[in-house]
Amino acid sequence: SVNTDLKLKCVSWQLSENQKDHESEGLSSKHLVVRRGRPFKITLFFKDEPFSPLMDSLVFSAQLGELYVQFPLTFSRHVSAFKWGGQILSENSWSQSLRVLIFTPPNAPLGLYNLQLHIKSQAQQHSYALGNLILLFNPWCSTDEVHLSHADQREEYVKNDSGILFMGTPDNLLPRTWEFGQYEEGILETCLKILDMSPQHSKNSQKDNLCRSNAVYLSRVVCAMVNDRGVLKGNWSGDFSRGVSPSQWTGSADILKCWERSQCRPVLYGQCWVFAAVMCTVMRALGIPSRVVTNFNSAHDTNANLIIEEFYSETGEKLQLSKESIWNYHVWLECWMSRPDIGSEFSGWQVLDPTPQEKSGGIFCCGPCPVKAIREKRVDLFYDVPFVYAEVNASVYTAIVKNNQVVHQSLDANRVGSLVCTKGVNSYLAQDLTAYYKNPHKTPRRNSSLHGKTEIIFVQLPVAGQSISFSVTVVNNCGTSRRLKEHINAQMKEYSHNLLETFWEASNMIKLGPYEGKCATFI
Ligand SMILES: *[C@@H]1O[C@H](CO)[C@@H](O)[C@H](O)[C@H]1NC(C)=O
Ligand SMILES: *[C@@H]1O[C@H](CO)[C@@H](O)[C@H](O)[C@H]1NC(C)=O
Ligand SMILES: *[C@@H]1O[C@H](CO)[C@@H](O)[C@H](O)[C@H]1NC(C)=O
Ligand SMILES: *[C@@H]1O[C@H](CO)[C@@H](O)[C@H](O)[C@H]1NC(C)=O
Repeated sequence: SVNTDLKLKCVSWQLSENQKDHESEGLSSKHLVVRRGRPFKITLFFKDEPFSPLMDSLVFSAQLGELYVQFPLTFSRHVSAFKWGGQILSENSWSQSLRVLIFTPPNAPLGLYNLQLHIKSQAQQHSYALGNLILLFNPWCSTDEVHLSHADQREEYVKNDSGILFMGTPDNLLPRTWEFGQYEEGILETCLKILDMSPQHSKNSQKDNLCRSNAVYLSRVVCAMVNDRGVLKGNWSGDFSRGVSPSQWTGSADILKCWERSQCRPVLYGQCWVFAAVMCTVMRALGIPSRVVTNFNSAHDTNANLIIEEFYSETGEKLQLSKESIWNYHVWLECWMSRPDIGSEFSGWQVLDPTPQEKSGGIFCCGPCPVKAIREKRVDLFYDVPFVYAEVNASVYTAIVKNNQVVHQSLDANRVGSLVCTKGVNSYLAQDLTAYYKNPHKTPRRNSSLHGKTEIIFVQLPVAGQSISFSVTVVNNCGTSRRLKEHINAQMKEYSHNLLETFWEASNMIKLGPYEGKCATFI
């Protein structure tokens, strides 16, 4: 059989073996999905005659958009971990096949690659399109920048497709289950489409493809694409008649499918937990470890002075004198990655906040902001450290105003960021992350002592259409009788809004003898 050319009959992608080995089972029914930095196996079957090492040379090429890499298939062991490579594992002359190992670098750009085989034998050359494969980030690989060393964390933050989002108040967490849905049909392909629809890709697709090797870059692209110009439109008006109310969504897959079906028009509507949960799906699908995090009493500091100002009337009614607000809770995402751009000490969990609030570099995007930089108040570091720092650690300045004059003022450093939490690993309970964001300066809930003439005691009660009861105890600490006036004022607060007008109030005169205490109960 001299003088004939080697021809390819077919290729076996060995889907189930590779996907099991790459922790990528269920992510796509159309394509082989593998993680970078770990070799995968394919088998090449030839026509008419077997492969002859002396006569035939085999070269692969992998193509991602305009990016193109070529590498030969050889018998030698692959040694250069940061290069693409092909190694022959075994030959079978009876079936005229070759078992082949293909190596990808742990810093290769993520995406849908086109794999080709070029056969050069004697005077002839044939090229064959083998098909497409999807290359993802690899938290299992120690040289990948998203490497996560604990197996149980990889199960939770990369592979788990359901989770819990926390709402309510710090003392009364309201858990809400969420289906991330990264294994639903077509979701991974939709996630890749989100990248292709980004302004960065439209502007320069070659540069964008090249940058997709980097988790910092990729997470910024996804963060900006999840909100208004991309997947989901935010609306806090309370009128959701033109779309779906944010609280009706129970998972990300419906939203992503809806976006895909509508020719990539933003889906109506999202609020913070929806934005964060959808971004969590995209990041987990792409292989970047992610978790949804709730910050209770999240400050929105519009003038960046790290102080939220609140003004009250003498009877305790909050006055609308300040545009700054404290959300009952705010939900964002943490993604796990190294930070070669700012220093390896800031590698680890990074805040990414896809809710459109403030522009960062001209687009609605926030992060990646290292959690460690927040704790160390490194407001000089990229990205958006001052904004996230204020969300968890602004102080609340409270002033009581009478006839346009401040009659009492106080500063509360504990209210904002009172709890930061996420779903625990392999658990349905909340894990407290507060100490990663702030110094543990929590003082126990103190009894308010009446030094001045007037003082506000702020109590937050959960909603949910139930009746509320509470009691207030007043103790006279001095040896003389005292008379005081007690005002109770109740105002409604939706999670992202300022207080609405007073819906209930009461007042009492209290007379206390020396060292006497009195308790009043309200139902
Ligand atoms: C929210 O929806 C309402 C009702 O459809 C609409 O009037 C309002 O402009 C929307 N707000 C934003 C910010 O899109
Ligand atoms: C996801 O997390 C839940 C709760 O911890 C657990 O019961 C479930 O088995 C996990 N699912 C996967 C696919 O790991
Ligand atoms: C947060 O605020 C408190 C009180 O103002 C302060 O002690 C602390 O150093 C601040 N920073 C962090 C990261 O906790
Ligand atoms: C607050 O007052 C209550 C009731 O008088 C008392 O039992 C408690 O010890 C006080 N707590 C503090 C921190 O002073």
